[in-house]
Amino acid sequence: MNKALRKAVIAGNWKMNKTPSEAKALLNEIAPLVKDADCEVVACVPYVDITTAVEAVKGTNIKIGAENAHWEEKGAFTGEISTGMLKEVGVEYVVLGHSERRQYFGETDETVNKRTKAVLKAGLKPIVCVGELLWERECNITEEVIARQIKLDFFDVTAEDMKNVVIAYEPVWAIGTGKTATADQAEEVCAFIRETLAKLYSKEVADGVTIQYGGSMNDANAAELLSKEDVDGGLIGGASLVAEKFAAIVKAASV
Ligand code: PGA
Repeated sequence: MNKALRKAVIAGNWKMNKTPSEAKALLNEIAPLVKDADCEVVACVPYVDITTAVEAVKGTNIKIGAENAHWEEKGAFTGEISTGMLKEVGVEYVVLGHSERRQYFGETDETVNKRTKAVLKAGLKPIVCVGELLWERECNITEEVIARQIKLDFFDVTAEDMKNVVIAYEPVWAIGTGKTATADQAEEVCAFIRETLAKLYSKEVADGVTIQYGGSMNDANAAELLSKEDVDGGLIGGASLVAEKFAAIVKAASV
């Protein structure tokens, strides 16, 4: 982390877990444990939990995020949710391009780019996920894959808008598998993302972007990952569903 240059952000990605009443209970458990955090604390929750979650975190330092958003303002898109809908219910962050959406729901860099622009236009903050598959790492093309995703996902996004962007580096092989990237592997790719942004925009813009690591980050490995210069936070799946574990990660980012 380099808190002098950018904000540290610890975000839970709850995925398809927790009903509204369970969400309320978990947030009530987390809130007192993270109240002194010296980083941004976010819980990205299923759509139906959002209203309850926003209510539950009133008066706390926790922000609520969604797990996706459509690029059109409204229309015939059965099953989708617009940025305007999310904004009205109090969402501040939106996870986009998660590898589970890319793998199971046909998400492409083109749709991630459209969603990113729509989210920024609405004044919300996207958490854009990028990451290589295991075989791509084994074939030594991690940097090519990441550079391509960054170039396509942020095509036409202005330098000004980049101030509201969070990028999550999530190696697909590390998600939900218990296989964390080593701190050096995470730093290598997060630094590469920053170099890529510097080429596309400027060093100043690149230095200001929060780049998270995600993929089996937990209470035991967070401090080492976050000790790296270019790892500015975490996108946490499994460990975000356990109040003490999530709070320990927030604490590791608060040093
Ligand atoms: P995990 O998930 O922490 O359970 O590996 C991370 C993510 O998918 O964002």
